[in-house]
Amino acid sequence: VALTACGSGFEAPAEGSAETTGGAGAPEAETVFKVAFNQNADQPEAVALTNLGERLAERTDGRYTLEVFPNETLGAQKDTVELVQAGTVDFALVAGSLLENFNPDFVALNLPYVYDSQEHQEAVLNDPEITGDLYTSIEDQNVRVLGGFSAGTRSVYNSSHPIETPEDLAGLKIRVMESDTNTRMLQLMGGTGTPMGQGEVYTAIQSGVLDGGENNESIYSNLKHDEVAPYYSYTKHLMIPDLLITSPEAFDSMSEEDRAVFLEELQVAFEESSELTTKVMTESQAAAEEAGAEFNEPDVEPFRDAVKPLLDEKLTTDTAKDLYDSVRAAAE
Ligand code: GCU
Repeated sequence: VALTACGSGFEAPAEGSAETTGGAGAPEAETVFKVAFNQNADQPEAVALTNLGERLAERTDGRYTLEVFPNETLGAQKDTVELVQAGTVDFALVAGSLLENFNPDFVALNLPYVYDSQEHQEAVLNDPEITGDLYTSIEDQNVRVLGGFSAGTRSVYNSSHPIETPEDLAGLKIRVMESDTNTRMLQLMGGTGTPMGQGEVYTAIQSGVLDGGENNESIYSNLKHDEVAPYYSYTKHLMIPDLLITSPEAFDSMSEEDRAVFLEELQVAFEESSELTTKVMTESQAAAEEAGAEFNEPDVEPFRDAVKPLLDEKLTTDTAKDLYDSVRAAAE
């Protein structure tokens, strides 16, 4: 079977190259869409997207499948947005924060403490009434969002001591994702936010350039940040969605029927990933503890109060405010 990529003039890797490139392997199909992913292939979203690829191949009679390239093999998240824009990569899974750089209104989905629970977040992310316009708002920049995965709840961790109050973060340099909102958030929480791609964090903490990071339990344990920053404090300040992006050109290269199949199966992938996420977070916490990490549960109220100014600072357009209100309304 000849492998071609979605009319973008890009050559998909030949069969058998998956092992050397780090690709997770994909069933044969006429078109193998590449999906850029920055975490390892065992992570819930990668598993769900790989399975989606299999169902897609079946249901399109071998016309399409997906191949997930994990571990930043195609680049850090920031780079992969550009690769999607350029048509070099068909899909990428990126944290919502990164899309604030394309349309600041995305911030409404990424603010601290905006969601009450994973169920709340999932109800919002894939409700076209709430996110439909936002997800197509950057098509003029060649990016379309197809939907969002819940990626757990983020808390701070560091190499020096448990965090009980915002004062405990004073003087600590904490890695944040690459958006101004996150840098400002960490400042309001009492520390200093340093934006960086995920792959560089371990070494930066190890060498003392950083004191810690903020992430979910799975990344913390999987990327072995627990070795260099053994104090994980449940500030639970963020639930940043991971958004599946594509370029309109790549996606619309499929027939309307095949697109409908894709979107239908994507809903199944969201559910599968959601169940796995809950499980993986619990297991990762146990694994990190086993490896010597110390977890503590600070009172989150002082952190929630500290970040409140972000609402006024960041919700600066009517569309962002309306979006924020719809997100909150869905919690009630
Ligand atoms: C999580 C999230 C990723 C994000 C990463 C990060 O793993 O799911 O999308 O890139 O955190 O902190 O960079």
